Amino acid sequence: MKFFADTAEIKDIRELAEAGLLDGVTTNPSLIKKSGRDFIETVTEIASVVSGPVSAEVVAIEHEAMMKEADILRKIADNIVVKVPLTPAGLKTCKALTSDGTMVNVTLCFSANQALLAAKAGASFISPFVGRLDDVGQPGMELIADIRLIYDNYDFATEILVASVRNSIHVLDAAKLGADVMTAPPAVIWSLFKHPLTDAGLASFLKDWEATGQKIA
Ligand code: E4P
Repeated sequence: MKFFADTAEIKDIRELAEAGLLDGVTTNPSLIKKSGRDFIETVTEIASVVSGPVSAEVVAIEHEAMMKEADILRKIADNIVVKVPLTPAGLKTCKALTSDGTMVNVTLCFSANQALLAAKAGASFISPFVGRLDDVGQPGMELIADIRLIYDNYDFATEILVASVRNSIHVLDAAKLGADVMTAPPAVIWSLFKHPLTDAGLASFLKDWEATGQKIA
């Protein structure tokens, strides 16, 4: 499963990339607002640091206006993925862009039927929001299982990009269900390292090593 960082913070992106934990980045208007930075400048910088796909979202509602924005975004770098909402205009834009060789991430997916529509429109990625579904009492991971089943039934090439990931259990479940990608805040990715037995084991090894009085270098 590929790991994307769900952030617009360049420092966090660099740290994950240096640790070999980063396959791509997803941004959205809320993350850009949180960064306090200029959208185009930020996405350009991210796309120069990360070699994998970098999602940049359109904010227009109508197809023609989406195409205009997409045209600006896709010229930023070859690894830019234009992110569109799961609406009729968004999927029309998806169809036009992917037919033209541009990668598209269809976002705000909350049902398997929506994911089916996105695959038919040729989406490169579909982003089902598991955390937001959990928030309203609908198990997000059941949606991932349904989409996996449907996409495998028909050999759709659209990659399942599990979004709105909030914790390590989401990451584990996404991997067990065979999701292609998950995107998570950097803190969630770093939390995957944590296990109390690792910490306790390391402390005990270091204590015993100190008692030997030896040095490696
Ligand atoms: C990613 O593409 C999504 O925009 C993001 O994962 C949404 O996450 P949130 O529900 O935590 O805002």
